[in-house]
Amino acid sequence: MREISDLPELDLTGEHLSEMLNDKDNPWLTLGIMDEIEDPNLLREWVRMLDLQTRLLGPREVEWLRANEFGQNCTVMEPGSGDGHYGSFLARSFPDTRIFGLEANENIAKRFDVSQSTENYGIDICKVGSDPLPEKLSQGCDQSFLRFVLQHISDPRPLLKATYDALPPGGKIYIIEEDHSFFTSEPYWLPYSLATDAWARVYTAGGSDGGMGRKLPALVAEAGFAVDAFDIILRNNVEMGDSFLDLFEQASRVLHYTSPDLLPRAELRRIENEFRADRDRHAQSFVATYPQILLCATKR
Ligand SMILES: C[S@@+](CC[C@H](N)C(=O)[O-])C[C@H]1O[C@@H](n2cnc3c(N)ncnc32)[C@H](O)[C@@H]1O
Repeated sequence: MREISDLPELDLTGEHLSEMLNDKDNPWLTLGIMDEIEDPNLLREWVRMLDLQTRLLGPREVEWLRANEFGQNCTVMEPGSGDGHYGSFLARSFPDTRIFGLEANENIAKRFDVSQSTENYGIDICKVGSDPLPEKLSQGCDQSFLRFVLQHISDPRPLLKATYDALPPGGKIYIIEEDHSFFTSEPYWLPYSLATDAWARVYTAGGSDGGMGRKLPALVAEAGFAVDAFDIILRNNVEMGDSFLDLFEQASRVLHYTSPDLLPRAELRRIENEFRADRDRHAQSFVATYPQILLCATKR
């Protein structure tokens, strides 16, 4: 069995990350590996990733959101809507709720397929935290929803402040994130190790923050919110079956097209082949995690 000792060493210390995240020369709030994505191959892989994350993770997230009073006949602002896959799914799940997607990257927003969406959902181009909100949100909104956004931002505080300002007192913010510190497998599982290691390498080099999940309570408290619910949910290959492998294979493809130098094609093929060999039988030999962090907080 091959080990991963020949891959470059990582510096994932907080100091190193905050040095990168405080880069004053980068005025673009959407730093990280999603910054200014234009390459059609990379865009295609992101669209597949957002679709997969919606289909595989969305239904359980909606259960959690319902249990925490999301979207009860109200208006919701969704900064970082991406191509609207998830927002459309959310709008279908909460038909009485009007959801306003806001996306900083035009190239991604252009992939929004209106024909697959519903009347209670739409996307505007807006870099929340630096651009003014569109006219339709000038009166604010009742709730805000951010999923897998803060991990890609050089400084989440302006976005959280703009979100805070758009909400009335008592308005709620919902955040769904990951935290790669909770990636674990028992026993050692080569393709999982290769994929999670590449994930850390590419995120660190690109300025995305794979450890965002655990920072959420402190970040929202600093912005003026009181935390109502905070859950760390370890999705895993035993309950997810082969879709767990789909998720990690697709993430690896995104990482490859983001930084082919850090995850070369040969390494990607190895991850795909090793996972392929383990299809249908991994649950009998391995337990591996995909960590999701869910937070709900109220504007004081
Ligand atoms: C990983 S995608 C998540 C898309 C969607 N929320 C989902 O869960 O499928 C994150 C998106 O947030 C966008 N983004 C980051 N900072 C933003 C900001 N300040 N305002 C609007 N969009 C932002 C990025 O351009 C990117 O498309």
